[in-house]
Amino acid sequence: MKKPFDLKADYQPEKFTFKNKKAVQEIIARYPKGRQRSAVMPLLDLAQRQNENWIPRAAMDEIAEIIGQPPIKVYEVATFYSMYNLAPVGKYLIQLCGTTPCWLCGSADIMKSCEQHLGIHNGETTKDNLFTLTEVECLGACVNAPMVQINDDYYEDLTAERMVEILEALAAGKDVPVGSQTGRKCSMACSGPTTLEDQAKKAGVA
Ligand code: FES
Repeated sequence: MKKPFDLKADYQPEKFTFKNKKAVQEIIARYPKGRQRSAVMPLLDLAQRQNENWIPRAAMDEIAEIIGQPPIKVYEVATFYSMYNLAPVGKYLIQLCGTTPCWLCGSADIMKSCEQHLGIHNGETTKDNLFTLTEVECLGACVNAPMVQINDDYYEDLTAERMVEILEALAAGKDVPVGSQTGRKCSMACSGPTTLEDQAKKAGVA
């Protein structure tokens, strides 16, 4: 899905300043002298976490200033990766994986249940600003497909019904267990360990 990137939108703040200057310095110090531009990705992440999960243009300009690069260099990185949100999003950002393994296991049903329950479509935010729904490419948890990422957490082995329960629980401010929703341990086979059984027992996961 094309990322919204409107530098002149009315939601863009005039200014952005990093609140945690120490964190900025620590990030910059990770890179050799003269290579500060390598800090662009962690600085974008820091800006996003400070600013309700999205990065305004003013933050990208501030980062460009800090790393001594033209703003376009920061815009290029921010627009390439789906992890950076360039417009306001809801309190819960649902990133639904629609790539082949998840699709084969029912991601289209999960999308439909989200759309019907929330009354929004892919790329939209609910009126109460609680949920934003977006389809993304593989999130690297294919073995526990289908799955979604909500903010920083993964919810795996989903069904359409379980997805609705999760949305209801989050809206009610309740905790939802992350990871497999069927109780599967890590990415073990659904039937339990099929290899290295002794080690699985020793680790207490079988
Ligand atoms: S295909 Fe969905 S996590 Fe990889």
